[in-house]
Amino acid sequence: MDQVRKAVIPVAGLGTRFLPATKSVPKEMLPVVDRPAIDYVVREAAAAGLRDVLFIAGRGKTAIEDYFDRNAELEQVLRDKGDEERLSLIDDVTQLAQIHSIRQGAALGLGHAVGMAEDHVGNEPFAVLLGDDLIDRHDPVLQKMIEIRAKFGGSVIGLMEVPPETISLYGAAAIRTTDENDVVEITDLIEKPPADEAPSNLAIIGRYVLDPAIFSVLHDTTPGRGGEIQLTDALRTLVSAPKTSGGGVHGVVFRGNRYDTGDKQSYLRATVALAMQDPELGPDFSSWLSSMMSERRPGD
Ligand code: UTP
Repeated sequence: MDQVRKAVIPVAGLGTRFLPATKSVPKEMLPVVDRPAIDYVVREAAAAGLRDVLFIAGRGKTAIEDYFDRNAELEQVLRDKGDEERLSLIDDVTQLAQIHSIRQGAALGLGHAVGMAEDHVGNEPFAVLLGDDLIDRHDPVLQKMIEIRAKFGGSVIGLMEVPPETISLYGAAAIRTTDENDVVEITDLIEKPPADEAPSNLAIIGRYVLDPAIFSVLHDTTPGRGGEIQLTDALRTLVSAPKTSGGGVHGVVFRGNRYDTGDKQSYLRATVALAMQDPELGPDFSSWLSSMMSERRPGD
């Protein structure tokens, strides 16, 4: 089985950058316009043909599973009111994908979270989408990554050019170019390097298509930066592993709009950008926003 059919979405992180909101609400459930951030991520997986979604969840994340489940009581209330429009809105969410969920137990790192998916995924390539990484649906990248996996085998990671001084916030890639535009061969990966030691300004974003060989590598990956089992460290091993044992990593450079909804600044940008795009809310919201901006006095 070489087709990518399953998506793994880790949502077990603690979300400390968004406290106090995330004390009782998972960051993935914070709304961006009219739906929680995780809705966009599952929709993106479904749009790329991945209808089997596994959440790697942690404590207090049942709201995420409930969101994708049916709510018979609410459906009945809407049906009684004859509110077909809202009924179809909530029904649509339950139809997106077949949702599964397992618990990570303790947040031991992204590598550990992905390793938990082994039994569910089995011996086939699969996608990983970080639940707090929102990619504008007008700029799809996952489909292209799946095509690159089909072409070259091995694993494929999403990359984005970032200002060099911010690379220390990300995993950074050393690369060789290929004949194909925006497709690179990865020669090394370093998790959160100091800016002056980074091999490039190409940062790893939260989209991966992984060869199942990642699982055996993760078994042997010891805690790295921050005492966590890092997915980047396991991928680094795959960079130099032979192709015959699932090695080789390519990168697809993403040039669209992407937001880290676990970061307050980026979350606010996502909300404003998507509200402006919304066909119903956009026109009024945009004109309100521009009049508010023009009313701002210098120094406000
Ligand atoms: P982050 O680095 O954003 O960590 O994790 P976090 O804990 O979620 O957030 P902060 O930094 O405390 O604010 C990146 C992704 O990996 C998942 C997170 O849910 C997020 O999607 N993750 C991280 C896990 O699922 N398990 C872990 O042990 C660590």
